[in-house]
Amino acid sequence: MMLPGISVNIGKLKLKNPVMVASGTFGYGEEFADFLDLKKLGAIVSKTITLRPRRGNVPPRTCETPAGMLNSIGLENPGIDRFIGEKIPVFKKIGIPLIVSIASEGGHEEFVILAETLDKINSVSAIELNISCPNVKHSKLITQNSKLISQDPKATFELVKKVRKATKKTLITKLSPNVTDITEIAKAAEAAGSDAICLINTLIGMSIDINSRKPRIAAVTGGLSGPAIRPVAIRMVWEVYKKVKIPIIGMGGIMDASSAIEFLLAGATAVSVGTANFIEPRSSVEVIDGIRKYLIKNRIKNARQLIGELEI
Ligand SMILES: Cc1cc2nc3c(=O)[nH]c(=O)nc-3n(C[C@H](O)[C@H](O)[C@H](O)COP(=O)(O)O)c2cc1C
Repeated sequence: MMLPGISVNIGKLKLKNPVMVASGTFGYGEEFADFLDLKKLGAIVSKTITLRPRRGNVPPRTCETPAGMLNSIGLENPGIDRFIGEKIPVFKKIGIPLIVSIASEGGHEEFVILAETLDKINSVSAIELNISCPNVKHSKLITQNSKLISQDPKATFELVKKVRKATKKTLITKLSPNVTDITEIAKAAEAAGSDAICLINTLIGMSIDINSRKPRIAAVTGGLSGPAIRPVAIRMVWEVYKKVKIPIIGMGGIMDASSAIEFLLAGATAVSVGTANFIEPRSSVEVIDGIRKYLIKNRIKNARQLIGELEI
């Protein structure tokens, strides 16, 4: 039997396999080079970049929770200029698609400047709009009624529309699960011209040390990730799949190939491995190998045949 096909397309982006690594969980790629052959990945998504450097939140910024973790990194990053000068040349050497995640501290304009800047860089394959980080308070990432942009369909539509005009590159919008109806937000992003939807970012959580009576995260609340959130993520991918035509990149607690295949069956075209990278740095390549094995074992010619093929 011929080897099954596992390539997929996300907008103009061609991925040799549907597995990428999630923003903020894989540094800038080079940190993982000793553990795995980075060339095997479908794509790398960078840590979220802002216009100016950010130091992030004060520690402790992470803690373990049952089947997951809380984090409140607060978008620590070197800023766009150092990212372009120091990190992009390293990515370029890897030779796989680079998706750059961006966020703004200054409203829509900053998103537009970042997108225009990245649009001019050949080695950037796509732009991911992080409008869903739960760990940045008191900034204009938040709309007037103190919601995240991704908690408001109108705000999502307006922002995506502006960024769409600023770049011809594949545009991915990353959604928050901390909403009543994620399909409303997904539809707004699609209507404004996003090429793909990426979900889910972390769920807002909290954990308390009963001896000190202090929160385990200095910022009090943090974003919950890992296997604990997988059923929520699968449900949201399935709901969004039924409502939008653009491809979905699914994530949330993917630990192995079987959890990745769950996402494909729920409707994701591609998947991202996040927290699992901290536990086993080779997780993403193991997911790719496992998907291939599943296809061979079940005599499925192409991974695309799995997308949304949940039987109810
Ligand atoms: C330590 C940590 C840092 C993260 N930083 C970012 C970030 O900078 N930008 C972003 O869009 N998502 C960030 N995320 C969210 C992940 O990309 C992903 O959406 C989420 O963790 C769910 O996937 P997982 O359960 O596989 O980790 C971060 C997650 C973790 C655990």
